[in-house]
Amino acid sequence: MQSETVTSPGPADHAAPAPALAGRYYTDPRIAEEEVPRIFARSWQLVCHESDLRETGSRLAAWAAGREVLVVRTEDGGLAAHLNVCRHRGTRLVSGSEPAAKAIRCPYHGWTYRLDGTLVGAPENRQIPCLDKAALGLHAVRVESFLGFVFVNLDPDAVPLAVQCAGLAEAVGHYAGPDLTPVGRSRIHDLAGAEVQQANWKVVVDNYLEGYHVPVAHPALMRLLDYQRYECDVVDESYVLFQSPLRDKPSSNWFERLYQKVAAPMPGLTEADRRTWRYAVIYPNTLLDFYPDHVLAWTAIPTAQDRVAIPGAFFTRRGTTARTRLARRLNIHIGWVTNDEDAELVSRVQHGVATPEFEPGPLSRRERGVGWFADRVRADLRDAPCLQPSGPADSRAPRGTFR
Ligand code: FES
Ligand SMILES: [Fe+2]
Repeated sequence: MQSETVTSPGPADHAAPAPALAGRYYTDPRIAEEEVPRIFARSWQLVCHESDLRETGSRLAAWAAGREVLVVRTEDGGLAAHLNVCRHRGTRLVSGSEPAAKAIRCPYHGWTYRLDGTLVGAPENRQIPCLDKAALGLHAVRVESFLGFVFVNLDPDAVPLAVQCAGLAEAVGHYAGPDLTPVGRSRIHDLAGAEVQQANWKVVVDNYLEGYHVPVAHPALMRLLDYQRYECDVVDESYVLFQSPLRDKPSSNWFERLYQKVAAPMPGLTEADRRTWRYAVIYPNTLLDFYPDHVLAWTAIPTAQDRVAIPGAFFTRRGTTARTRLARRLNIHIGWVTNDEDAELVSRVQHGVATPEFEPGPLSRRERGVGWFADRVRADLRDAPCLQPSGPADSRAPRGTFR
């Protein structure tokens, strides 16, 4: 798991980026289906922040790898995760975020589970022949906290996230942690309340992974960021980290100028952080923005091959000054403008890549994050039957070639 730092020119800086994904990866529902077991069920999925589960017994339901997962704060202060399905007749146990309680009680017939998922009782249990409580605990799911964010993984053998992402905590850990507090009402686990964009989830991740479109698509960012120094800092097997310093030149827009003037770091950040915006992608779909004045954590959850929900939440640190709070409000507003611009772009990309004749062109070195992501996706899907040249699906594909 070698990290490759490329802030100073080196051989990697001059290498051609890996090729982009072929159009079918974004449009074929069979590929979308294969991604569930081959990508989402084998990777760490962001579900919430530790602050969403402060009290013992607090619990919430979140979407991960095509299932709903129930995450709880356990008696020992740790976390547990289970599939959100009762072992009796399959009722969904928790919906949304629910108040703390000592146990997990099914709202249908009252089967009751400990926070660790063990079945402790069923009403009138003498009426249930063969009730083997030991065999009827909730289905366990791996759960970990990393940078204060809570992730689950359906793969029992998954490498711990902190190991997979070695180096990331050192680079951005000082922005994050369990003591962050959410700002506003949006929450990472709130899929129903999330914005939906009209694109495949990978189009959204691709878009996040490069700054090449900034000069054309984001005039405000172009006025604020030092584009020449907008760079991919670390490309690791499991994550990408990039950053851009803020420009010193005052923006022509008064709102942005005010931001430049008041930009101030949260407690715990350095003076250098005050002038830098950083972004991280943890493969496959966790997207983290680290600003001097707030942190934004979000995820891209496909709801169809051409639709993606992007639930997320803003966070700040206790002890933040009024000046930093003002900077945060201004920055979040600028972020919404950028988001709207991106939403339009990703829907245009989705439209275009569905054209049967489309073959991706070469990527810029500024898009090497996109190449990294494409390589990871290709590797994970390499054995998918619908991507085999002789497979039954291939004869129905619009083109005979694929990457
Ligand atoms: S379905 Fe849960 S107790 Fe019956
Ligand atoms: Fe963008």
